Amino acid sequence: MSRNSLSLRHSPRRLRRHPAMRAMLRENQLTPADFILPIFLVEGEGIRSDIISMPGVFRHSIDSALKLCREAVSRGISAVLLFGVIAEGCKDACGSASWESEGLVQKATRAIRAAYPDLLVIADACFCEYTDHGHCGILNAEGDRDDNATLENLQRQALSYAEAGVHVVAPSGMVDGMVTAIREALDAAGHSEVSILSYAVKYASAYYGPFRDAADSAPQFGDRRAYQMDPGNRREAFRELDLDIAEGCDMVMVKPAMPYLDLVRDLRERCDLPVLTYQVSGEYSMLQAAARAGWLDLQRSVLESLLGMKRAGADAIITYYALDAAEWLE
Ligand code: PBG
Ligand code: ZN
Repeated sequence: MSRNSLSLRHSPRRLRRHPAMRAMLRENQLTPADFILPIFLVEGEGIRSDIISMPGVFRHSIDSALKLCREAVSRGISAVLLFGVIAEGCKDACGSASWESEGLVQKATRAIRAAYPDLLVIADACFCEYTDHGHCGILNAEGDRDDNATLENLQRQALSYAEAGVHVVAPSGMVDGMVTAIREALDAAGHSEVSILSYAVKYASAYYGPFRDAADSAPQFGDRRAYQMDPGNRREAFRELDLDIAEGCDMVMVKPAMPYLDLVRDLRERCDLPVLTYQVSGEYSMLQAAARAGWLDLQRSVLESLLGMKRAGADAIITYYALDAAEWLE
């Protein structure tokens, strides 16, 4: 009997033949509301400066960042994630520029809240962009991070962000107890409405390389393996998750995204909090590089990477492609 005449009781392909059938049955969809756009802020006016290792991403003065926010709102993007990039001369050993009321993130937050009330403002809470040594907190005499002192400064930073009007504080330094410290400081000051997005599961990753150029936040010595997670570990992520939940965080994040989609799925199944993931700078740049070389179709490969994150269980995605992807989805 020839293969053609065989009657197939089960044919998954029957449901793939018609584009309308595929659209009707697609299990996961991307929408612009899924996306969070990271923005690198610099002092000055009219500045939109290149980042060599992230073609298509720029450092913006606040006026220029506002234009970006306008575009984000018009495309239906939910939120921006702010990073301050300051001059070398403004950095010190503890990163005190990060909690000044006239700091970059604080000023930008007030401007964005006033101009675009529909947009959520999330502030990354860490010190590596503000310390002269480039580590995520205060160091002791041995060059090791002093977590107690760092937590106190994290409270100062989170409070000043809340006073400026952020909706969400997102601690990214992998400091034990960071959620408790921030929650207590916010509540004591009457900011119980501000939520906490914990970078709960953050790996010591090579994929942050371009970000450290962009934010000028590379450690001046050593690396971050003494506080970020080891890429070989999975069980440890559950421990981090459980602790952050116990400490009262509102949302959790897995970072980076593509090499760690198993963890996105794991967290989705292990907790009922929103799970976010961060398509980091290196993930952005490798897709750019391949597309620029003519080896990949940028639009299709970016959308596929983002859809994979949703399929893995992410409720929202932080991505430098937020504006492009929103436009492509229209
Ligand atoms: C700061 C921070 C980093 C990223 C987000 N927040 C850098 C780091 O931990 O070294 C990385 C984001 C990216 O690569 O796009 N702690
Ligand atoms: Zn940091």
